[in-house]
Amino acid sequence: MSQSLTFLGIESSCDDTAAALVQRGPDGVAVILSSVVQGQTALHADFGGVVPEIAARAHAERVDICVREALAASGKTLADLDGIAVTAGPGLIGGVLSGVMCAKGLSAATGLPLVGVNHLAGHALTPRLTDGIAFPYLMLLVSGGHCQFLRVDGPEDYTRLGGSIDDAPGEAFDKVAKILGLPQPGGPAVQAEAEAGDAKRIPLPRPLLDRPGYDLSFSGLKTAVLRARDGLMAGLGGLRRQDRADLCAAFQRAVADVLAEKTRRALRDHPVSVLAVAGGVAANREIRARLEVVCAEQGVRFLAPPLPLCTDNAAMIAWAGIERFQQSGADDLTLSARPRWPLDQTSPALLGSGKKGAKA
Ligand code: KG4
Ligand code: ZN
Repeated sequence: MSQSLTFLGIESSCDDTAAALVQRGPDGVAVILSSVVQGQTALHADFGGVVPEIAARAHAERVDICVREALAASGKTLADLDGIAVTAGPGLIGGVLSGVMCAKGLSAATGLPLVGVNHLAGHALTPRLTDGIAFPYLMLLVSGGHCQFLRVDGPEDYTRLGGSIDDAPGEAFDKVAKILGLPQPGGPAVQAEAEAGDAKRIPLPRPLLDRPGYDLSFSGLKTAVLRARDGLMAGLGGLRRQDRADLCAAFQRAVADVLAEKTRRALRDHPVSVLAVAGGVAANREIRARLEVVCAEQGVRFLAPPLPLCTDNAAMIAWAGIERFQQSGADDLTLSARPRWPLDQTSPALLGSGKKGAKA
């Protein structure tokens, strides 16, 4: 534990190509030496979602550029590294393969240890990278591709308490934006529109609140927005600005309500001292405020890493690689890319397919 470790991390599981260098000091404190993220929003903009083939090609073209940039920005060379961590799943398989092949090539050429990292473990261990918090803690992961409550007991010890049985919340925000003619990514657009809206005017369901447990569902909510929009349009022949704002506010309130209630239950049943959030949806002001209230009620610390570390990045992969390496050692060159890779191997797989392919 007293050794200092410097890892290169590589991430390419969805629509961000990323590379980063992270150093863990002998005291256990992490320093992000560099973090490079190249997004692909513009490449997919015309298609209303991530196109796996386009994503895979872009990752293949950019991953080595990102690695070079991350090394240059850190002032280090490959000779200064102790290992290479790469997202080996879950995600869109073409993209994951690009990263894994790049990491294997670097490992074969340098002899550096290769560590395959679960993308979700990257998110789940981020609170240790940013704030050095101790196990156990609860993690709410809410992004465009994922939605789960995790109890984190160790670098490789996760219990999935519940998750979305259909769409991820970010996916629902994106689809609602599309339904209402707002730009992508939908989350920030819906949030901005909701500011001028009345969240109480249009009633929307609160899916799965009537059922025990922590599972969530967002697909029906999105359909309810579509029906409400059609109802308003049938009456008026079009959608007024105020109607759109009211629909956004009602949708955002419904998502916040279910996330707050399920979080309250999870904290009540699994007493821990920290709730951490990750994923792009954790940037939503109303959702964040509601989660903060729930945590304050239960005397739990609310931890939201800075946004660039909440969304997809490679620093979290480098860090998760260091933690995994210290616990279990390295992988070898037979490491394979896995489209589906649940963190909690004992819980049944969630149904359906998300922005990142099969749900974990
Ligand atoms: O974690 P992330 O950057 O990427 C992956 O999904 O991998 O999350 C992106 C998602 C998008 O669906 C986006 O619409 C949503 O996060 N998002 C938001 C907000 N900012 C981003 N959703 C709600 N409110 C926001 N302010
Ligand atoms: Zn992610």
